Amino acid sequence: MMSNNTNARHEAWDVVRRAHASLGPATLRTLFDQHSNRFETFSRTGADILFDFSKQRLDTKALKALIDLSRASDVEWARDQMVSGAAINITENRAVRHMALRASPTDPAFADVADDVDAVREAMLAFAEGVRSGKVAAADDGPLKHVINIGIGGSDLGPQLAVQALQPDNDGPAVHFVSNVDGAHIADTLAKCEPARTLVLVASKSFATLETLRNAKTARAWLVNACGEEAVADHFAALSTNLEAVAAFGIRSDRTFGFWDWVGGRYSLWSVIGLPVAIAIGPEKFRELLSGAAAMDAHFLNAPLGENLPVLAALVGIWNRNIEGHAALGILPYDQRLQRLPAYVQQLDMESNGKSVALDGSALETVSGPIVWGEPGTNAQHAFFQMLHQGATIVPCDFLVAADSRETEALYEPHHKALVANCLAQSEALALGETTDEARARMEAAGMATAEIERLGPHKTFPGNRPSSTLLYPALTPALLGQLLAFYEHKVFVQGVIWGINSFDQWGVQLGKLLADELTPMLSTDEIDPDRNGSTNGLLQAVRHMRNR
Ligand code: F6P
Repeated sequence: MMSNNTNARHEAWDVVRRAHASLGPATLRTLFDQHSNRFETFSRTGADILFDFSKQRLDTKALKALIDLSRASDVEWARDQMVSGAAINITENRAVRHMALRASPTDPAFADVADDVDAVREAMLAFAEGVRSGKVAAADDGPLKHVINIGIGGSDLGPQLAVQALQPDNDGPAVHFVSNVDGAHIADTLAKCEPARTLVLVASKSFATLETLRNAKTARAWLVNACGEEAVADHFAALSTNLEAVAAFGIRSDRTFGFWDWVGGRYSLWSVIGLPVAIAIGPEKFRELLSGAAAMDAHFLNAPLGENLPVLAALVGIWNRNIEGHAALGILPYDQRLQRLPAYVQQLDMESNGKSVALDGSALETVSGPIVWGEPGTNAQHAFFQMLHQGATIVPCDFLVAADSRETEALYEPHHKALVANCLAQSEALALGETTDEARARMEAAGMATAEIERLGPHKTFPGNRPSSTLLYPALTPALLGQLLAFYEHKVFVQGVIWGINSFDQWGVQLGKLLADELTPMLSTDEIDPDRNGSTNGLLQAVRHMRNR
């Protein structure tokens, strides 16, 4: 998915590099001193999200060059290609149309799939409502009080994030998530559930994922052991594109909710993969989540490049990664309920853009996707912020914070003020730092002895000049969560287009899966494969020695 605009693209990259050269060593401090309107110049609003990138080390010349780069990279054309249903996932020959899952049924752009999408969504939401109301009952006709979603990657991260994020909207059965093949995960979860009151959702686009099938078989055995084989029909449902494999597993067809190969795993929250969310928050709130994402889609599809939040966030990321040379991106939600957002964006970004090969198979000319990591603030402040402020490696960060908490009781009011203050304080400290003289002055004001001030001065100096963006939103509602996730989806898409890679495949996860298939039987024998490397063989032998069963 790239037009033949190579010369224009190369020239646009050169202009960005020249803008960087003319910015020189200007620090964020200098940039703020020189430009009193920096916040107004470098912040934009899209849907309900304010995106402040004034704490990024760039100026108006650089921003213009970056916007021109997105134009020269044919971002608008690529966006239209995605909407049109062209097979832009060229290595798997698939279209990429997750936007259709949240579009209005009358949107002409997705008219070709709207009826199917609507029918499946309505069936899924009716089932969710049935579970919530008790109409969809357990084998003994009693209520289903626990739901276990068994899935991994895109079949786990989005729904789990959404259920946690929308806790104030959760008024359905308790929803649990099992992903890891480590038996500890399912064992700990099953221990919290009563088989006769539990619905198991097997969520797998391919219905071929080792972890999910292993966990699903274990859950099935647990249920059959307690309630008998005939209970499976009432206690299992499946979310998948592979209807044959679901039927072979023994899940009823009217409990099987399908989707399409044009929905990538990490973009599938909006499909039937969202069923655990709909069960937790109900169909109406689930629709609000979808409309929030649709509002961000409309912004992404219609706002000019220089006003477009996902485009601007992508360009800031390109600037940091390719021009400033920063290898990582910190995702720091000052919002406890977004505790899984770093993991979600990690998959979205790293599985999409963690690649070194261009669309035509040639080696990429630039570096691509960053290392994405993070934790919620303020917890992260007491863990790795030391390194962010004074470490030798600069990590650009995204701060996220709500203007209002959903804890409306006066009892909790001081919490939110402290949360917001900490969020703003951290990005300010990262950007502006504190010189040794300022640190000394602060110590003098605190009455410290001169010798001590001299000794501690270097330790208390903050270099600053560490870039970050802040996403501010009114409150973490279903609609807002939809906007936020769609924002990151489109940001990652735009970066993939500019880097000229296929953001929609994930071949890099395959080799390890194949090798694990080879090694699994070797854990049940004493054999050694003489053609295998010494380290793996040595570790295999050591496992056999150490285990006592
Ligand atoms: O291994 C990577 C991956 O294919 C992800 O892209 C996907 O989200 C996850 O595994 C789960 O896949 P499935 O939904 O097919 O079980």
